[in-house]
Amino acid sequence: MRLLGIDTGGSSLKAAPVDATTGALASDIVSFPTPSPATPTAIGSVVRQIAAAYPGVTGPIGFAFPSVVKAGVACTAANVDKSWIGTDGARLVRDATGRPAAFLNDADAAGLAELRVGAGRGQDGTVIMLTFGTGIGSAIFHDGHLLPNTEFGHMEIRGMEAEHRAAARIRTIDQLSWEEWARRVNEVLARMHALFWPDLFILGGGVTENWASFGPLLESPTRIVPAELGNTAGVVGAALAAAEL
Ligand code: BGC
Repeated sequence: MRLLGIDTGGSSLKAAPVDATTGALASDIVSFPTPSPATPTAIGSVVRQIAAAYPGVTGPIGFAFPSVVKAGVACTAANVDKSWIGTDGARLVRDATGRPAAFLNDADAAGLAELRVGAGRGQDGTVIMLTFGTGIGSAIFHDGHLLPNTEFGHMEIRGMEAEHRAAARIRTIDQLSWEEWARRVNEVLARMHALFWPDLFILGGGVTENWASFGPLLESPTRIVPAELGNTAGVVGAALAAAEL
């Protein structure tokens, strides 16, 4: 069964059909620019466009979004248009496409994909996935079960939110060297380790394409691995969540 996964980011919505059994992409990811302002109505019309671009892929759609999602409703909007707060994301997709949808946090989607078919496959105990992009997303699992909607990127470190210190976007804005940025990431990992004592850290987001530049600089008593699915994890996880509807 092939299902459509959509992952919403600050600059683009990424989408692809995914084999919901193996988690493999059925075709390359296609990016659609995030509208500005990225209101629910504007994103809804991009979702309609995406669904129309894959006429052969039917069934439920997985829709990952950078927000806390409770009972299908977006509750936060840290890096997206504030008008998302209170929006029923599955209903938005249904209204746009006529199809049912799974609406979930983007980092939870990425974590699900990594746990099922990526770097966390078969890993028992506690696994923490952190995604580094515009913000820092998080997902925590115990024996493969997700505790949804953790927002570790907003944890305060020395008076500042972790994602305002160490998101990949901050590395670019502040023109940090890999060493300087890795020091900030290490601070986040140290705090997470002190609080959760995970058995594995999986680090994701587009920046992991540069793993060779910063991976060796990361330090933790816990094993740290890059996401195997790289930047496609959110799309794959969204489709896997849709398969569970
Ligand atoms: C949001 C999270 C999201 C993360 C990554 C944070 O700012 O609060 O919900 O998962 O960014 O996109």
